[in-house]
Amino acid sequence: MWSDLPLWPDQASTSAAQVDALYLFLIGLTIFLTALICGLVTFFAVRYRRRGPGDPVPEAIEGNTRLEILWTVIPFCIVMGLFVWSAALYVHLSRPPDGAMQVNVVGKRWMWKLQHLNGRREINELHVPAGSAVELTLTSEDVIHSFYVPAFRVKADVVPGRYTSMWFRATRPGTYHLFCAEYCGTKHSGMGGSVIVMEPAAFQAWLGGDTGESLVEAGTRLFGELGCATCHVDAAADSPSRGPKLAGLWGSEVTLHGGGTVTADEAYVRESILDPTAKITEGYPGVMPTFRGLMNEEQMLQLIAYVKSRGVAESAPPARKEAAQ
Ligand code: CUA
Repeated sequence: MWSDLPLWPDQASTSAAQVDALYLFLIGLTIFLTALICGLVTFFAVRYRRRGPGDPVPEAIEGNTRLEILWTVIPFCIVMGLFVWSAALYVHLSRPPDGAMQVNVVGKRWMWKLQHLNGRREINELHVPAGSAVELTLTSEDVIHSFYVPAFRVKADVVPGRYTSMWFRATRPGTYHLFCAEYCGTKHSGMGGSVIVMEPAAFQAWLGGDTGESLVEAGTRLFGELGCATCHVDAAADSPSRGPKLAGLWGSEVTLHGGGTVTADEAYVRESILDPTAKITEGYPGVMPTFRGLMNEEQMLQLIAYVKSRGVAESAPPARKEAAQ
C-alpha cells in the first residue's frame, strides 16, 4: 500500500487519507504528463530528424481541428475534476462538525497556550480523545504563527486580532508533532510541541483532574472585575440599561446604529470590547470605553465564553449552540 511508504507522515486523523489521496493524484498526474511530454519530444526528435543535406524540407502543417479540440477538452476535464475534488475537501476541512469538542489556542512568541472549556490549561501540549471531533479556536498574542500538525494534515495561520478555527478527528492514540509553521522570530524553530491522542476514558480522567476555574467561570469573574455588569444588566426586559443585554445575544443578528446588521460571533464580541464605537447596537448610545490593553487574549476568550454562556439566540446555527455549553 502506498501509504506505507515513509514518504508521508503518520495518517492519524480522518482527513489524512483524503488529503493524501489528492496529493498522490497530483503527483501521479505530474509524473505522467512529464514522462509523456519528454518522451514524445525525444521520440519525435529522433524519428523526424533531418538525415542529410539532400532531404527535402517538409511543408508546415496549418492546424488540426480534431487534435486541438481534444487537447483542450481533456485538460479542461482534468483540471475541473481537480477543482471540484479539492474544493469539496477544502469545505469538509473548514467546517467543524456539530458538537465538536472546543479548545482555545493562543500563540505567543514562542509557545502555544491551550485551554479546554473546563479550564484545564496546557502549554505546547494538546491532549485530545481518539475518535472525537476537536475544534480549535486560534488567535495570537503578538505576530502571525501557524498551527501545524502534519499527522492530522491540518495547518492554519494564527493571526493577531482574528479568530481562526480548525478541526480534526484523531483516529488512534499516540503522540504527534505540533509545529509553528510561520517564521515568527528568533525561537520560531523551537515553537512546537505534541498532540497527545488518548483513549476516550483515559482522556476523561486526564481532563477531570487539576482543572481550576472553567472558562465560563473565569469569564464571569472578569465580567464583574472589569465593571461590565454596570451597563450590561439583564434586568426586566422593559427596564432601561446603558448597554445591550447579553441574554440571547450569541449568534443573533444585531441591528446596528446607522443601518446594517452583524452576527454576534467571536469576532464581533471581540471588536465590541476593544473598539466599542465601531459597531453600535441600534438604540444605544456609543458611550462604552475601550478595554484595549486591559486584558490578554486568553482573558478575551474567557469573556467570549461568558457571553456565549449567557444564551444562544433561537436563530443561531447548531454548531454555535454546542459551543455555548
Ligand atoms: Cu510561531 Cu513560528
